[in-house]
Amino acid sequence: MAPTVVLGVGGGIAAYKACELLRLLTESGHDVRVVPTRSALTFVGAPTWAALSGHPVTSEVWDDVHDVPHVRIGREADLVVVAPATADLLAKAAHGLADDLLTNVLLTARCPVLMAPAMHTEMWLHPATQANVATLRSRGVVVLDPAVGRLTGADTGPGRLPEPGEIFAACRAALHRPDRPHDLAGRTVVVSAGGTREHLDPVRFLGNRSSGRQGYALATTALARGAAVTLVAANVGLPDPAGATMVRVVSAEELHKAMLEAAADADVVVMAAAVADFRPAAPQQSKIKKGAGEPSAIPLVRTPDVLAELAATRPRPGQVVVGFAAETGDADGDVLTHGRAKLAAKGCDLLVVNEVGADTGFERPDNAAVILGADGTEREVPNGPKEALAHVVWDLVADRLTS
Ligand code: CTP
Repeated sequence: MAPTVVLGVGGGIAAYKACELLRLLTESGHDVRVVPTRSALTFVGAPTWAALSGHPVTSEVWDDVHDVPHVRIGREADLVVVAPATADLLAKAAHGLADDLLTNVLLTARCPVLMAPAMHTEMWLHPATQANVATLRSRGVVVLDPAVGRLTGADTGPGRLPEPGEIFAACRAALHRPDRPHDLAGRTVVVSAGGTREHLDPVRFLGNRSSGRQGYALATTALARGAAVTLVAANVGLPDPAGATMVRVVSAEELHKAMLEAAADADVVVMAAAVADFRPAAPQQSKIKKGAGEPSAIPLVRTPDVLAELAATRPRPGQVVVGFAAETGDADGDVLTHGRAKLAAKGCDLLVVNEVGADTGFERPDNAAVILGADGTEREVPNGPKEALAHVVWDLVADRLTS
């Protein structure tokens, strides 16, 4: 059965962006019921929501009363997402007010609730709004941080609605595991993602095919499960996951420094980035010319092994360290034999081993893996969305954090 999503729309100019979110949800097979507030309808009218969702639209509890919609809609939902969530809506939700259909739905829903605020910077930063957000988060509501950028007028600052694609990714993450939505609340996690680049000269580098999708899926799912997330991104072209603290790096050296810094305060460290093992010993300041003769060899030196160092140092007691291994079988052994040897060599708690080939692993939205535990456990994850694999990683991490 298609997951049922309630899309609550608050009365802000960003309501028009919720149309795009609605399209993303319906086109990916969700059954979406739109519940706008009265003031939202002054920005985007009911016919637009009805046509895009295929369901009748009202803001009132007094329509179709025989059907008791204010209870039914909330109870049937697998996810309630409110975008944009205005300061007024956040306040009403925090205090349990119920003066229209959406606020009633928020009280009757027992599924994950995700709110994407959008408002002027002053309203977002006001202590009243911040206290309401803190209250909602303490109850397990996922409140995304607004994006920073151009607001309605010429002003800029925090308060923009995150891009519809980011809210959609957060929705998918929240929907995957409605039974364990907040088991990482109060935990700090650091995830590295993407692939490092080692410069030969100002225009050329040694790099790899990692897109960063798996690391980003780990970040969005950890956010959905309540963690505070730092995402160390190496050359990734994907939108920032809403709510993550972003650190951008290019080379293995920069990633090494950023990870050691972030790991100092972390409960969990996940190395999903593909890190170069070698870098050119002497990168050139100006472009290397082809010249007339034979090409010369490029001397390389080793980069630090970030995962092994993180696993050996563990600045926090009980810190859980997770590595990834993209392997291919060869004459020395199959993928899992190499994986087991790598787990031992790196000294991490979990190693997510996946087989890479021409059309598996890299640059794709799905992934299959076997997760090896230092305690001898082995968990096979069938091919599926990278978010699904990420959730299994967090399940195994959460068990290790509590045990
Ligand atoms: N890794 C790291 N630092 C490096 C190289 C790799 O932290 N310099 C991490 C990766 O982020 C990943 C894990 O180590 O989590 C395994 O990476 P992989 O490239 O499979 O292993 P290598 O140690 O490079 O071994 P090899 O390439 O010889 O298989």
